[in-house]
Amino acid sequence: MGEHLAESVELIPAAATRGLRHRVLRPDQDKSACIYPLDEAPTSAHFGAFRNRTLVGIASLFQEPQPEATETLAPHEDWRLRGMATDPAARGEGYGGALLRACLKQVESFGGRRLWCNGRVDVWGFYRHHGFQRVGDSFDLPGLGPHYVMQIWLS
Ligand SMILES: CC(C)(COP(=O)(O)OP(=O)(O)OC[C@H]1O[C@@H](n2cnc3c(N)ncnc32)[C@H](O)[C@@H]1OP(=O)(O)O)[C@@H](O)C(=O)NCCC(=O)NCCS
Repeated sequence: MGEHLAESVELIPAAATRGLRHRVLRPDQDKSACIYPLDEAPTSAHFGAFRNRTLVGIASLFQEPQPEATETLAPHEDWRLRGMATDPAARGEGYGGALLRACLKQVESFGGRRLWCNGRVDVWGFYRHHGFQRVGDSFDLPGLGPHYVMQIWLS
């Protein structure tokens, strides 16, 4: 990633995330379930990973407090990663990692201290690989299965 001009990670509008969100993350749900409440908030950011100008991966960043937190952070210090997905035909090629790095860089530039997500139990390996820790017990999100709160601190 990065070495090839055909691949890039860029900021994209919220509307551009909806196709992959629906296809990869919520195929059994109504398309309206792929519109998240903070999508258009001025502090939110959406990234797209492109291969040959085709969108193959997405990730969104929202200013939201981590629900299990015992620490008190200012609003701009706590960031939620949401809607992280790579097209099944492009997995294992580094797009997910590149999106996560773009998000971490953005959080850092916003003065953020923590990035967290409700991570699916079956992709815990991906987040652990990138330095995330699990917080608390697993919980079920209706229609989406078991999750953990996962987080990483920025130094
Ligand atoms: C999780 C997901 C976004 C990863 O995207 P990806 O583009 O395949 O990720 P990458 O190719 O950048 O993988 C980065 C590293 O994580 C590892 N990894 C990826 N998925 C993994 C998993 N499920 N478990 C363990 N390790 C994993 C890869 O082996 C790779 O390791 P490497 O850097 O040593 O080669 C993708 O599998 C996906 O869209 N899954 C379905 C949707 C989903 O569950 N999203 C997360 C919701 S919380």
